[in-house]
Amino acid sequence: MRSTDLIRCLSDGEFHSGAEIGLALGISRAAVWKQIQKLAALELSVESVKGRGYRLTGGLDLLDKLSIDAALNQAARSCVSRLDILSSVDSTNSYVMECDSADGGNVCLAEQQTAGRGRRGRTWVSPFGKNLYLSCSWGFEGGAAVLEGLSLAVGVALVRALEACSLSGFVLKWPNDLLWCGRKVAGVLLEVSGDASGHCRLVAGLGLNVSMSSRDADQITQPWVDLREVALSNNVPLPSRNEIAAEVLNQLLPLLRDYSEKGFSAWRDDWMLLDAYRGREVRLTSGAQSVTGIASGVDNGGALLLEHAGKMKKFSGGELSMRLLGGST
Ligand code: BTN
Repeated sequence: MRSTDLIRCLSDGEFHSGAEIGLALGISRAAVWKQIQKLAALELSVESVKGRGYRLTGGLDLLDKLSIDAALNQAARSCVSRLDILSSVDSTNSYVMECDSADGGNVCLAEQQTAGRGRRGRTWVSPFGKNLYLSCSWGFEGGAAVLEGLSLAVGVALVRALEACSLSGFVLKWPNDLLWCGRKVAGVLLEVSGDASGHCRLVAGLGLNVSMSSRDADQITQPWVDLREVALSNNVPLPSRNEIAAEVLNQLLPLLRDYSEKGFSAWRDDWMLLDAYRGREVRLTSGAQSVTGIASGVDNGGALLLEHAGKMKKFSGGELSMRLLGGST
């Protein structure tokens, strides 16, 4: 028996007796008890009350392939060659990168990542059943040049997806951190393999905080927010993770399909409208080097424009980090 079967059984947040669970899963009551103990490793809190049974505190909104598939639009569905929903994986980006099926449209979502990766070698905190961890692969001809600006366009697609879920107030911090009220709600990690000037394979990985528990959040080292708080503040119900995942795919897959033809120029104006720091004084650091200037948007390739001492300079590459001078994000 897999833990996911037990979690699915308890996901409604109601009490279920050991006998009822045992019957549903085809195991003894003693085996149910043993399996319940294992859920602690996933940091899921299960109450056990004599005479009533077991209850998963707060319930869980689990990922469901059929629900996601049903909410995909025609354009996105035609791009998907494979959709895997995993209970646990080291990193959805690594999983999709290793998929040996056709280049494009391999999509993976996981309930939990045991080694989720962020940009600049950081860890991406990925607790079970709370957030979205989604990766998608696409094949490109023409190498790195074709991918110019793509990571910024993915940020815009993410904002559009959340707006389609009636969530608003997001801005983008160059190149693609999604912020809400100055706090990070999502991050994008693009990884490329193959020929730098010919055929290459891109994996776009998105991590989106949906309903982070304060215990998990203790591991996050920067100001953060989740969509639960955004929905509360927007006065709308929090959409299910399946709805959000489908909207993300509805935006992301057509973007990947059309990018080599359309390029970043089709996305630049929207990125500029969402620019968190436009006109503000910022410090850009890369390793030991740092430069300050007025953030002045991005060029046609997605490079950051900084004005310093009356001169405009551009900066590209995803390894830079940007901070508001005197600010903390
Ligand atoms: C960032 O540092 O802002 C990027 C975070 C990207 C996290 C996502 S979660 C899904 C995918 N799998 C990973 O290991 N990382 C990305």
